[in-house]
Amino acid sequence: MTKEFDSLVEAAREVRLRSYSPYSKFRVGAALLAKSGSVYQGTNVENASIGLSICAERAAIFRAVAAGEVDFTAIAICADGADPTLPCGACRQVLLEFAPDLTVLVAGDQGIDGEVRQFALRELIPHAFETFQDNIATDSGDRGVVS
Ligand code: THU
Repeated sequence: MTKEFDSLVEAAREVRLRSYSPYSKFRVGAALLAKSGSVYQGTNVENASIGLSICAERAAIFRAVAAGEVDFTAIAICADGADPTLPCGACRQVLLEFAPDLTVLVAGDQGIDGEVRQFALRELIPHAFETFQDNIATDSGDRGVVS
């Protein structure tokens, strides 16, 4: 792995410690690398109304989009447990919206000192739902603004 990917995994491992997960007691951290070079961290935030909880990966991507980023290179995910945890289906779909060519790194709680697996997002979500992609204007940067 490159040094950049190593530090992305470590950023995911670090933010996992700030997870709010009193119900599942399963902490997850994600670190998303934008093409600009900036890194956006996210963690899972649970709620007493369980279905309102959000995964670390979506927390990271929503934070990045709010900061003005829409182009991404890689995401690292680091969860509790020695074995790497893969992103859930909902997060795979949300990542695909912005980054079909994303590299996905998954690690366990030992970060780069444990097993790290690398995937292409497309491998993780074959035959995805992309029906409305044609609605996006071809000029770059269409965020749905109506002028
Ligand atoms: N979780 C994530 O943060 N990311 C995933 O990809 C899978 C699951 C969180 C959601 C919930 O807070 C806890 O892990 C148990 O499902």
